[in-house]
Amino acid sequence: MPPPSPDKFPTHAAIIMDGNGRWAKQRGLPRIEGHRRGVETVRQVTEAGRELGLRTLTLYAFSVENWKRPPDEVGALMGLLEFYLQKELNTFIKNRIRLRTIGRTHELPAGVQKHLNHTIAETARFTDYTLVLALNYGSRTEVADAARDYAAAVAAGRETAGESSWAAFNRYLYTSDLPDPDLIIRTSGETRISNFMLLQGAYAEFVFTPVLWPDFSKADLAAAIAEYTRRERRYGLTSEQVTTPAK
Ligand code: FPP
Repeated sequence: MPPPSPDKFPTHAAIIMDGNGRWAKQRGLPRIEGHRRGVETVRQVTEAGRELGLRTLTLYAFSVENWKRPPDEVGALMGLLEFYLQKELNTFIKNRIRLRTIGRTHELPAGVQKHLNHTIAETARFTDYTLVLALNYGSRTEVADAARDYAAAVAAGRETAGESSWAAFNRYLYTSDLPDPDLIIRTSGETRISNFMLLQGAYAEFVFTPVLWPDFSKADLAAAIAEYTRRERRYGLTSEQVTTPAK
């Protein structure tokens, strides 16, 4: 196997965190214990991402579909999120981590929104490393929101009707100011994309690991990054075009 090449290091890694429930079930614990441990993993992996050299880490924490889970579980997840934000603010500031979100965060409980807005404002000045939480996020919802906003911009004369380009539409996605993910990881052995960054991940490399999210470690993140560095990204070109620079 060729060694990892530093110039192929991913800028942006995104993780579909999965397996909290199974982790708890294997131990005879309630599902919420899995989520609680999952929050610890969020802390550790956020730090690991920075130490390993990522510039952006996105974590899929709550999908638009997750509202359909039992109300107790939804309530517990929102409680954990609020607790996490309160507890992490000092760490974000100490470690110079910028927090961002993607998703319909205005539909989250008021307490969560309050802590989110506060943390985002307090960390907005940091530029080296960004943690993006996908909250009440779904890619199809994002596209619908972007299409609505794009149409409004056309009606207001800020976009030209009849023209279309990816660059123009991209400005209306939640991620307009973020680089596309280079690497998308899913834990717990599932090999689905589950409505996550469908457009932004168009050229991403995927790594699927059987490790359940509460057990996911810095070594697992490093292994996924190493796997990424061994792959050849071609963006529709031939292998020769990618490996032999044009004269
Ligand atoms: C998937 O496991 C995980 C989730 C739906 C939520 C992820 C949430 C956390 C890690 C904790 C809260 C996050 C933050 C940022 C504080 P699952 O419940 O679908 O697991 P299963 O497939 O084994 O049932």
